[in-house]
Amino acid sequence: MSQRLVATHLVDMMAPVLVLWLVMSLSGTWAVDKGNFKTCDQSAFCKRQRALKPGESPYRALLETMELTGTRLTLQLINDNNKVRLLLELYRLQGNITRVKINELKPLKPRYEVPDVLIREPPTEPLSLLSQDENGVVLSLGSESQRVIVSARPFRLDIMEGREVLMSLNSRGLLAFEHLRMRKDTFSYKVTSTVASVWDNIKRVFSSQVDPEGEKKEEADPASQAEKAKEEEEEEKVEAGMWEETFKSHSDSKPNGPSAISLDFSLPGVEHVYGIPEHADTLRLKTTENGDPYRLYNLDVFQYELYNPMALYGAVPVMLAHNAQRTTGIFWLNAAETWVDISSNTAGKTVFGKMLDYVQGSSETPQTDVRWISESGIIDVFIMLGPTPKDVFSQYASLTGTQSFPPEAAVGYHQCRWNYNDQEDVTSVDAGFDEHDIPYDYIWLDIEHTDGKRYFTWDPHKFATPKEMLQGLMDKKRKMVAIVDPHIKVDSNYKIHNEIRNRAFYIKNKDGGDYEGWCWPGSAGYPDFTRADMRDWWASMFAYDQYEGSMENLYAWNDMNEPSVFNGPEVTMHKDAVHGAWEHRDMHNLYGFYVQMATAQGLIQRSGGVERPFVLTRAFFAGSQRYGAVWTGDNAAEWEHLKISIPMCLSLGLVGISFCGADVGGFFKSPSTELLVRWYQTGAYQPFFRAHAHLDTPRREPWLFGPENTALIREAVRQRYTLLPYWYQQFYHAHRTGQPIMRPLWVEYPQDPATFALDDEFLIGRDLLVHPVTEEGARGVTAYLPGKDEVWFDVHTFQKHNGAQNLYIPVTIRSIPVFQRGGSIIPRKSRVRRSSSCMMQDPYTLYVALNPQRTATGELYIDDGHTFNYEKKEFIHRKLFFANNMLSSVNLAPDSQFSTQSWFERIIILGASKPGKVTLKTADGQESQLEFDFDASMSVLTLRKPGMNAGLDWNVMLQLP
Ligand SMILES: *[C@@H]1O[C@H](CO)[C@@H](O)[C@H](O)[C@H]1NC(C)=O
Repeated sequence: MSQRLVATHLVDMMAPVLVLWLVMSLSGTWAVDKGNFKTCDQSAFCKRQRALKPGESPYRALLETMELTGTRLTLQLINDNNKVRLLLELYRLQGNITRVKINELKPLKPRYEVPDVLIREPPTEPLSLLSQDENGVVLSLGSESQRVIVSARPFRLDIMEGREVLMSLNSRGLLAFEHLRMRKDTFSYKVTSTVASVWDNIKRVFSSQVDPEGEKKEEADPASQAEKAKEEEEEEKVEAGMWEETFKSHSDSKPNGPSAISLDFSLPGVEHVYGIPEHADTLRLKTTENGDPYRLYNLDVFQYELYNPMALYGAVPVMLAHNAQRTTGIFWLNAAETWVDISSNTAGKTVFGKMLDYVQGSSETPQTDVRWISESGIIDVFIMLGPTPKDVFSQYASLTGTQSFPPEAAVGYHQCRWNYNDQEDVTSVDAGFDEHDIPYDYIWLDIEHTDGKRYFTWDPHKFATPKEMLQGLMDKKRKMVAIVDPHIKVDSNYKIHNEIRNRAFYIKNKDGGDYEGWCWPGSAGYPDFTRADMRDWWASMFAYDQYEGSMENLYAWNDMNEPSVFNGPEVTMHKDAVHGAWEHRDMHNLYGFYVQMATAQGLIQRSGGVERPFVLTRAFFAGSQRYGAVWTGDNAAEWEHLKISIPMCLSLGLVGISFCGADVGGFFKSPSTELLVRWYQTGAYQPFFRAHAHLDTPRREPWLFGPENTALIREAVRQRYTLLPYWYQQFYHAHRTGQPIMRPLWVEYPQDPATFALDDEFLIGRDLLVHPVTEEGARGVTAYLPGKDEVWFDVHTFQKHNGAQNLYIPVTIRSIPVFQRGGSIIPRKSRVRRSSSCMMQDPYTLYVALNPQRTATGELYIDDGHTFNYEKKEFIHRKLFFANNMLSSVNLAPDSQFSTQSWFERIIILGASKPGKVTLKTADGQESQLEFDFDASMSVLTLRKPGMNAGLDWNVMLQLP
């Protein structure tokens, strides 16, 4: 089908939104249609909440209600304005985490608490009371010098270590909790009793929550009662949008009325906060006083704009705060629409102003204040106290789990486009890689591969024999990904639709029918992935006998899972759609998380639990790291989009999602050749490395731009493949520990303020620093090499540079500035083949970069690359270290079992001096002399063909001449 036909066909079916979309996409204008998405002012609860200004909190802690039972403290809070009581729960969790939960003491109906995101009920530690008086209580947080002070009037919490306040909650009085209530004008039919006065009735409903004193006063004084009723009425008028809200042509019925929550956090001593992806913004978050707060609401934003706080496809409500002394984190576990305001008392100050403060001894400590506002649910917040960045990552991982360990092939290069037209196209693209000697592991099929956008099917003409195609790839040790989206074509001839409908698995609309929206297939239903039985069924659809034409080298991609609904409000689902007992409003940001969870489960199950899955998702939430990879969605072929891919993936890594990448080349529009080359060079050093392109763009396989550019792209992709052993090891670590793979420099150099706002360079693991060229026509870049005790080796020239410095690097179109940290050992494989799987048994080259103390350490991790057998200790994990002129390999996992045929073909020692002889000693006690070359100008020692097996003990001794 020609593009034109596709367009006409779609236009016939789709709502006007899509017509506009297509027109814009074809005409090439680039701008998000901001009118499609709400500002805080257009989101009733955000507007209401933001209208509250800092001041004295109406909340008071009722200390007499306090109960402390071992690990749990509970305490009632009362709002002195409306007498509604809240219940505060406070826990000390293992590993320096404090959990604070606040819910209504007696809500009219249960409020949503986010399930399935925490990997378990977090283990608690004892809390003990240190002191108490009528103003508050002081609790000890375990054995550390950490305490929490609960102040009663007004209510606030301060978390302290020693004499230092680490974080204060409600210190600005912005705790707000819209209690569930009955709607006044519908009272007569909602409540069956026949009571005359509406107000009396409200009082009865709330009587259990009303302060007895307050009630007595009201009963004694009918005048104040009438006044109160009037006040409430006024309030209703002012606070429009509480029971109904409209946006453009959409109305939200809000059957439960207002239910927003909000809380402020003050961070004394903090000037830098990070996280809360997904936003197309700088790594360091900005203050939001002069614009909208950062928004977290999973949305399919067409042609997203850069450097602003608008919501994008995913939401992880986790913020990190950092200064040279400490890193802390706030995890706000809420899946409803959320806005985050950030302000700072130093925001307006120039560097000079700050210096003046310093010189004049100004006593004002820098402070950052943040405020979280969510539409529904409860306050459930985890305060991670660090103190180091690594501690915060471990703390967060202990709550939501770590990055899934992908098949090694998924760490290779992925070739995608919307769309590879048919099987011949796939075959010829696949052959093109061989012809041009460029490795790749996965070729991808977008929506056009299906039979009329019916997922789990194949177009009967274009993909008539999918198994033949997959077998062809398998013969070359390559794989495929096919898209499986969660919008299901409403079509009684479509098995998947019929089954979901018959099992009543669709999300319901507010009137109880199956929710229907427009998406790629036309009218579509949306399976309720919040249901475990639905997810089990979905997973079972990936079985080889269910998913016809699938084979074990076919993997999955979940797109449009925000969910995208072309004709829905803000291009997503109506908030009053129904998931069993809950509204879509309560769990919107979780939908994509569940889709990927169920899909990953399907890929695991189809192999009987043996094979690791690979699933890419566009929408995500906290915990999505457990199910696969994410990408930054529909970006554009523009230099600024290339640049923003760095802070966007860094921000995701900070909140646990390491497996991140951006569409190489840019999705919309067509890149200049220079941009495409630079994008390959950058993407080769980001965790998820996939090229992708829009249907309307000219083809851009790597060899279509002349031999010189083909060579440049080949070189970038080959650099990725030579480094696969290091990348794979980083994934293993991320999986075991929750540490990010792609890291901001401050994670490794937390005391160096020069690293705090860098978002044009990054580290991979600890040992490789990358400063990709992201400027058009660049003649040079300035990279910051951190660490005053560090040295850094240019990985291409082996030239040594001292940290900490800003290093100007002249560049050509070939340059990818990458540095290896002195003190590290990095394994590579220098024989690049068709795909990563073809390189499994290939030999290694070790790059040993000596630090000024002439030592270095590194690791080598090897397993089968695709099964879960590593969980049964089937792997090799060795520590490599160089000290006293000896390089050794020792076993880090003595009880594990795995063997490899891989051996060491070369050892390159950077920063070495010339030895007299080099002796290899192997596990069996054999000694032999190794041949070597020494490059005196660069101090590089190359040991030729040492030949020992990668899985065994050995050492290499350099003897002085
Ligand atoms: C907890 O915090 C203390 C004090 O800051 C620190 O010494 C300790 O290492 C932390 N423990 C963990 C598990 O993060």
